[in-house]
Amino acid sequence: MAHSTEIDRREFLAGAAAVGAAAGMASVAGAAEPARVRVGVIGCGSVSHQYLPHLTKCRHVELISTCDIIPERAKAQAEKFKVPNHYPHIDKMLAGAAFDLLVNLTDMQEHEHLNRQAVEAGKHVWSEKPMANSLDAGQKLLEAAKEKKVRIWGAPAMVVSPQFAFMAKTMAAGKLGKPAAAHAEYGHSGPDWSAFFYEKGGGSLPDLAVYNLTTLTGVLGPAKAVTAMTSVITPTRKIRGKGEIKVVAEDNAMVLMDHGNGLISHVQSGFNYFNPHGHEGSKEQRYTVSVYGTIGFMGLVGYDWEPNGVDLATKDQPAVKRHATDRGDFVWQMGASLAAECLATGKDLLITPEHALHVLEVIQATRESQDTGRRVPLRSTFKWPVVT
Ligand SMILES: NC(=O)c1ccc[n+]([C@@H]2O[C@H](COP(=O)([O-])OP(=O)(O)OC[C@H]3O[C@@H](n4cnc5c(N)ncnc54)[C@H](O)[C@@H]3O)[C@@H](O)[C@H]2O)c1
Repeated sequence: MAHSTEIDRREFLAGAAAVGAAAGMASVAGAAEPARVRVGVIGCGSVSHQYLPHLTKCRHVELISTCDIIPERAKAQAEKFKVPNHYPHIDKMLAGAAFDLLVNLTDMQEHEHLNRQAVEAGKHVWSEKPMANSLDAGQKLLEAAKEKKVRIWGAPAMVVSPQFAFMAKTMAAGKLGKPAAAHAEYGHSGPDWSAFFYEKGGGSLPDLAVYNLTTLTGVLGPAKAVTAMTSVITPTRKIRGKGEIKVVAEDNAMVLMDHGNGLISHVQSGFNYFNPHGHEGSKEQRYTVSVYGTIGFMGLVGYDWEPNGVDLATKDQPAVKRHATDRGDFVWQMGASLAAECLATGKDLLITPEHALHVLEVIQATRESQDTGRRVPLRSTFKWPVVT
């Protein structure tokens, strides 16, 4: 049972998030310290090595616990990042040291039930992608969060990057004229450290295409319908410590989105794309996102999750000029820290669960289109434009 300071704290966090009034809110305890949100991290694998250093440096975060079904991983990360508690199971974590925000970094297929359990226990959630395994389940999860008066967000976080803002504002200013087409791509030779990427519910769509789908729907607007093809190029894979596994989920995908008014975009993703930079994004200089309109073109230099700038050419200024070359403090692994800041201060966050669920529906529709050979209409949407 929660004691009174626990209830005070929950009310504070719910109030701060709902009111959106950052100014004047000094701290939970009322001292000069910035308000801090107590964070529990579940899933201590590869990506936790990126999230934990960022969370450790965030002034709005107090790391309370780690958890992993491989207990040595939870223990090792707790020791490395000086987190006071570690647990081998979500039940023990939820029953253990109190926290406010669950950061879910587990296998993609595990997110839905862990997120639901955390929401039911009254925790806010930042979830790696996807938030759930289907649109229906994701929408129910969001409803449950609203009933419980907690917040839930899903990765990715690129809509907060200066490069995303530049692209969105360029579109809104009409500099490209009438938008007609866009293309985005992301691929490499595939992870070799965990089997879930290749099992049912895994695949290059929720792992890789999710970034481009978020960027393109964010820049161009929600999609109305999807036509797509997917395939498996490499039927078996060798996974470290596990040996050979069968590849079930798509490792190659081509998605066409209809954004309305004739605007069509294309996203390509896969685990079979030779890439001289491997998983490393910082040296990538190609355009991985290109947008074409009647009087302008823009190309995102590098990846949307590690952007190096945006090239723009228009009828008035046809010489290609590079813009937004400064990333500021944007890094792709900052989403959970931003969620904590939002809870602590009430500061608005451009990342929304509705956008994440729309992208999840695009992924679901892609698979349906592949299975049926049909164009699939979409029913979800999100607040757009994302950046005004
Ligand atoms: N690795 C990356 O570079 C990267 C980058 C961005 C996003 N992601 C996303 O992060 C998530 C995790 O990916 P990863 O590469 O870290 O995988 P990983 O296999 O390295 O780590 C996942 C961890 O979760 C643990 N786990 C699984 N089920 C659990 C459960 N029910 N309770 C507690 N712990 C559980 C596993 O034991 C493992 O340690 C995925 O959604 C992935 O798409 C990964």
